[in-house]
Amino acid sequence: MSEYMTFNRNEFVGAFVMALDFLESSVRSNVTNHNKRVALMAIRLGARLGLSAEDMFDLYAGAVLHDNGITNPVYNKLSTGGISNMERFMSHCIVGEENLKVFPFLKPREGMILYHHEAYDGSGYFGMSGRAIPLLAHVIHLADTVEIMYAQGLGRKEVGAKVAEWNGSQFLPDVCEAFDEINSLAFWLSLDNRFIDGELNRSVPHYHMEMTLRELAPIAGIFGKFVDEKSPFTGRHSRGIAEKLETMADFYNFDEDIKTKLILSAHLHDIGKLATPNAILDKNASLTPEEFDLVKPHVFYTRRMLEGIKGFEDITEWASNHHEKLDGSGYPYGFTAKDLDFGSRLMVCIDIYQALTEERPYRSPLEYAKVSRIMGGMADNNSIDRDITADVLEALR
Ligand SMILES: [Fe+2]
Ligand SMILES: [Fe+2]
Ligand SMILES: [Fe+2]
Ligand SMILES: [Fe+2]
Repeated sequence: MSEYMTFNRNEFVGAFVMALDFLESSVRSNVTNHNKRVALMAIRLGARLGLSAEDMFDLYAGAVLHDNGITNPVYNKLSTGGISNMERFMSHCIVGEENLKVFPFLKPREGMILYHHEAYDGSGYFGMSGRAIPLLAHVIHLADTVEIMYAQGLGRKEVGAKVAEWNGSQFLPDVCEAFDEINSLAFWLSLDNRFIDGELNRSVPHYHMEMTLRELAPIAGIFGKFVDEKSPFTGRHSRGIAEKLETMADFYNFDEDIKTKLILSAHLHDIGKLATPNAILDKNASLTPEEFDLVKPHVFYTRRMLEGIKGFEDITEWASNHHEKLDGSGYPYGFTAKDLDFGSRLMVCIDIYQALTEERPYRSPLEYAKVSRIMGGMADNNSIDRDITADVLEALR
């Protein structure tokens, strides 16, 4: 039986935001905070419009994730700009809406992401107009447009004048009026990179959800979609690990919750690779030591992303320790045997098993006999767990 647990939705939203920042950092040296600024503006507008608590939470989540559909191929084409530079592709609206279909919004939110570039007068990507566009999409559209002007260096008054000018063409009149009311000097200053995190943390509405780990799995699957869009290889690799961990959970007769945690850890273990440049992830040859150094931080990023979610303590450990070794020769911490629990050790073994049995551009999948020899040697050197290695080689033979 799977147990009900209480999760804070905001902690998931926070992890998604970090994932999007990683994605952005893989093509730029800094992150633009576009998503956070749009979210802060949206909830200020929502409050002024008198939205309900449920609408406010969903607006916040939708605003901060509104550009989640900006996929990597688009990024690569426009790698000199920030997120807002990539919004010219309407596909990001379709992919973004699709990705969030399983997100636990408090009410159905069809069209909130899909129509975030629609204009009041029907001149947007899909030609939707007026109140046929969901109100929350109208709010995100104005916040998004204002953020882009902010990022281009326009001042508070210039932006205020532009919004007034586009009242009734680009924007829904109610939302324009709300903007005029919130556009104080303090509001404008709080958008600054130095203050945006604090201001957002103070302002976001909080919601909790009662869910079992199993019910949570599809939400974690959204991260898998981000990874798949960036690098199909990494996506396949994670799914291979998930299948093998499922087999191992049955081999050990683990209960349903431990099994689910192992599967979630598998799907999330390389999520930090969102921050790794595609030139390295997609390279058709083995990596140079310098390139390998650029891959190594991914496990640290995975930990930073997951550790903020209460209820994910085991998953954070198991997902983030998969390159540590019992003798301290692993990375990024150089942990030793005493730091690595059973789940972490199992994940290390399965990650290696999966990697060796995968097709690589520079070599074919290795035969079982060869895998067994390599892993046996690592166990003999006390680099990976001897008993678990024997179990893995038995169960996956
Ligand atoms: Fe967008
Ligand atoms: Fe945007
Ligand atoms: Fe990894
Ligand atoms: Fe991996």
